[in-house]
Amino acid sequence: MQRVLVRSAGSAGPEVEVVAFRLERRPGDLAALDDAERERAERFVFALHRDRFIAGRAMLRGVLGDRLGRQGRSLEMVSGPAGKPALADGAIEFNLSHTEDRAVLALGPPGRALGVDIEAQRPLSNRAALAAVSFAPQERVDVEAEVDPDAAFYRVWSRKEAVIKALGAGVGYGLTRFRVSAGVRAQLLGFVDPRERLDAWTLESLDLGAEVAAALATRVLDTPGGLT
Ligand SMILES: CC(C)(COP(=O)(O)OP(=O)(O)OC[C@H]1O[C@@H](n2cnc3c(N)ncnc32)[C@H](O)[C@@H]1OP(=O)(O)O)[C@@H](O)C(=O)NCCC(=O)NCCS
Repeated sequence: MQRVLVRSAGSAGPEVEVVAFRLERRPGDLAALDDAERERAERFVFALHRDRFIAGRAMLRGVLGDRLGRQGRSLEMVSGPAGKPALADGAIEFNLSHTEDRAVLALGPPGRALGVDIEAQRPLSNRAALAAVSFAPQERVDVEAEVDPDAAFYRVWSRKEAVIKALGAGVGYGLTRFRVSAGVRAQLLGFVDPRERLDAWTLESLDLGAEVAAALATRVLDTPGGLT
């Protein structure tokens, strides 16, 4: 397990802990889940996907329980309007992301919504087509202007996902309703929604190795606009 401590950009915000781990199911993982999670686990068609889900939720509960001094199994989870999991008592903010057998969990104190994303950097044969349906026009231009456009594509993708997940939204929010940077330095550049204040946000890339792109977004919770 790899742990990274991220001090939110602007440094006024609280520290956010990032835990990167492999989705390898261990004995006892299923017993750590609640009834709803076990029912969901049963619905997976492929054992590989089921085991990864179980491993992810068991790790999530284990880490949260550890930080709170409680049994992970006893933690009550609720879902936001678009399915974002949260603790019912809001004692810790968290967000989980996974790609293949890699996962990343971000957690921090209440007051800031978190969104984290990890993406395996597979070779792209259809970069322009994917960007056309997911990126704002300027983001597409910015990606193609970078020295390594594939790497830039994954930077933008993971940053946009992290923002969507901090909002607690899904793709229904509108992927072109905000813009992020394509360069090595992560920046949230603007929202269409005038209620979203950029100073309520932080956005950063996470260095979790060359095979993946990863990003973390944080958003102050008492500002209007988000769903969480
Ligand atoms: C959940 C969602 C927001 C992200 O899904 P994803 O990228 O496939 O998956 P990730 O691994 O990053 O995240 C999934 C985890 O996020 C959490 N999650 C679920 N719904 C969420 C939501 N609405 N907001 C934040 N987190 C959510 C869950 O913990 C989930 O894992 P679990 O169910 O195993 O516990 C998805 O609904 C979505 O809309 N994806 C957008 C896909 C896309 O086209 N992206 C283009 C980017 S430019």
